[in-house]
Amino acid sequence: MKGKSRAVIVGIAAICVICGVVISGAKAQSDAGSQAANAPAPKTAEEQFKNIQVLKGIPAEQLIPAMQFITTSLGVECEFCHVQGAFEKDDKKPKQTARKMMEMMFDINKDNFDGHREVTCYSCHRGSTDPVATPVVMTEEPKPGTDETKKPDDAEAKEPTGPSADQLIDKYVQAVGGAAAIEKITSRVMKGTITFGDRNIPIDIYSKEPDKRVSFTHTHDGDSITAFDGHEGWLGVPKRPVREMHGPDIDAAAMDADLHFAAHLKAMFSEAKVQGAEKINGHDAYLVIGRREGKTPLRLYFDEQSGLLVRLVRFGETPLGRLPTQIDYADYREAGGVKIPFRWTLARPSGLFTIQVADVKQNVPVDDAKFAKPPSPPEEQKGPAR
Ligand code: HEC
Ligand code: HEC
Repeated sequence: MKGKSRAVIVGIAAICVICGVVISGAKAQSDAGSQAANAPAPKTAEEQFKNIQVLKGIPAEQLIPAMQFITTSLGVECEFCHVQGAFEKDDKKPKQTARKMMEMMFDINKDNFDGHREVTCYSCHRGSTDPVATPVVMTEEPKPGTDETKKPDDAEAKEPTGPSADQLIDKYVQAVGGAAAIEKITSRVMKGTITFGDRNIPIDIYSKEPDKRVSFTHTHDGDSITAFDGHEGWLGVPKRPVREMHGPDIDAAAMDADLHFAAHLKAMFSEAKVQGAEKINGHDAYLVIGRREGKTPLRLYFDEQSGLLVRLVRFGETPLGRLPTQIDYADYREAGGVKIPFRWTLARPSGLFTIQVADVKQNVPVDDAKFAKPPSPPEEQKGPAR
């Protein structure tokens, strides 16, 4: 081992205290009685994978999210660094460079930011393999009155005036129909269309208390399934083994599955603050940052007029940085005594989709079997790669 690696390991250990909390926190999230919180210690990356030299000590399930973070930060595909089917091999130069870059990033943060992860791959790379070191020249006269140059974070500089975070959350609960009406919803069945680019595919979504949700996207090849049973989640793609959900995805799935989300918001936050106002799709909205114990914060945008939630931004923690997911809610309509969005667009660095609901039924019976993982565990199905 090289002399430097000790410091790096200490740095990673510090980061992993955070990941550990995130994972166990996510598992314990549904207050519907989760016993998963004291499961046996998870495997580390080097125990599960063959050739881990820098990311030692991180939970194995954080390795792929870290890879997604790298891929997004550099704007590349996995093949930029890996040979398909032989991820452990070091035959591509960029993979070796990436190891050095990780060590550099940990050192920068350790030496300059008290070990806080301020600088990530994205800070320099910004979606390119070749970071820009020289300022760019202006190629057009700035147009007066456009918001183009305004960074979304500018709002944070503004002094908050007007309502408090608590008042905004209360107004949201009222706008949706009030806590009593929200608590009366025990199940919801939605039928609609999911749109990726120019593809429109029928989708059915079933939700049921407590915190169960499953969606079936009816593709040509069969159903693509995303399911969460209140504790565990899994993803099914036609002709592929079922894939388990991990850490941040479980946190997100639990949130999406919560039929009483609006009423539960306040209890979720250890602290909630208004951070100014922004325009969301042409309408003024207040931004509330909600901090959660041991978990990533949420950014919530409430429409100034209607009080409804129009945007939610959440973050998936990885050992190298956070991956954001933004959901824009629209077309709120009354259904069974509450207002729910009939359309939402979910955007990630890797792409986006929109779901438009055509039909909603609430408080209808939904069989628990819908949320159950298919009986054969994924590992046993893993045959030779096809
Ligand atoms: C910019 C380069 C880069 C990209 C892009 C990248 N990786 Fe990696 N990957 C690495 C490095 C470096 C390691 C080794 C980390 C270490 O030594 O701690 C690694 C390790 C792995 C491993 C562990 C292999 C083993 O058995 O040791 C897997 C699996 C993996 N990557 C999957 C992926 C996937 C999937 C993607 C695309 C989402 C991806 N990687 C994108 C650089 C990259
Ligand atoms: C402090 C800024 C900075 C950070 C942080 C940083 N990089 Fe880099 N990276 C660079 C620069 C600058 C280059 C280009 C060097 C050159 O042109 O020779 C580069 C080059 C690379 C390359 C080689 C690209 C190629 O075309 O072969 C890879 C791979 C890479 N970085 C991965 C990463 C990863 C992964 C991270 C996060 C763990 C990271 N970098 C963090 C500045 C940074």
